[in-house]
Amino acid sequence: MTDKQAILVRHSVRKYRSVRIADDLVAQLKAKIDELNAAGNLHLQFVEDAGKAYGNLIYRAVGLISAPSIIVCVGEDTADLDERVGYYGEKLVLFAQTLGLNTCWTGTFNRKAVAFDVKPGERVVLAIAIGYGVDQGKDRKSKTYEQVTEVSGTAPDWFKEGVKAALLAPTALNEQKFMIKYNADETVSLETKGGGLTKVDLGIVKCHFEIGADKQI
Ligand SMILES: Cc1cc2nc3c(=O)[nH]c(=O)nc-3n(C[C@H](O)[C@H](O)[C@H](O)COP(=O)(O)O)c2cc1C
Repeated sequence: MTDKQAILVRHSVRKYRSVRIADDLVAQLKAKIDELNAAGNLHLQFVEDAGKAYGNLIYRAVGLISAPSIIVCVGEDTADLDERVGYYGEKLVLFAQTLGLNTCWTGTFNRKAVAFDVKPGERVVLAIAIGYGVDQGKDRKSKTYEQVTEVSGTAPDWFKEGVKAALLAPTALNEQKFMIKYNADETVSLETKGGGLTKVDLGIVKCHFEIGADKQI
């Protein structure tokens, strides 16, 4: 499965089978995490036993307590940390999908319930639940191409393909608070007016756009 195919089939999954992730897949996830941490100056950490990380009432209600494992997203606390976590974290989410695993980004988790490492100068951003879903999740509502784009002149096909993939990107509360601009000089810019987790969203959207467009922006 390619990353483009993974984008098409991936949905957030909140209910998981009570099975540990197979050792060979854990090894592949860890190798991918090492690669992404180096590329993004991050400290993403796979924690095999999520324990009660999703033990609060809301997460129990949606089923996330069943997630066997968790990826804690940590990195050097620079101004672009949230966006970097979104960008490289989504690469990991799509990789997990190609391994037959399911995921859900989660804005919070019980930090005392899992063991992970935060070095001086680093900050914990959020986490990703991971495991074998009881199902593959489902389609959800999306904004339209027109609602998320501003185009100067005529947009090329690669831009349209990028936006299609961006509209399939997970965003906090499915708010899709982003704009993708095709500028007169043929460059692309991504913007968000939101606060909080929208910077993470923006990184995720950039990751999807580049895969859809086959182009780095
Ligand atoms: C930054 C971020 C934070 C999220 N936090 C939560 C969360 O705390 N709880 C939850 O159930 N889903 C959470 N989600 C999942 C979104 O609700 C989900 O991605 C969105 O509804 C779109 O659905 P999809 O991922 O199936 O495309 C989060 C997603 C993102 C990107």
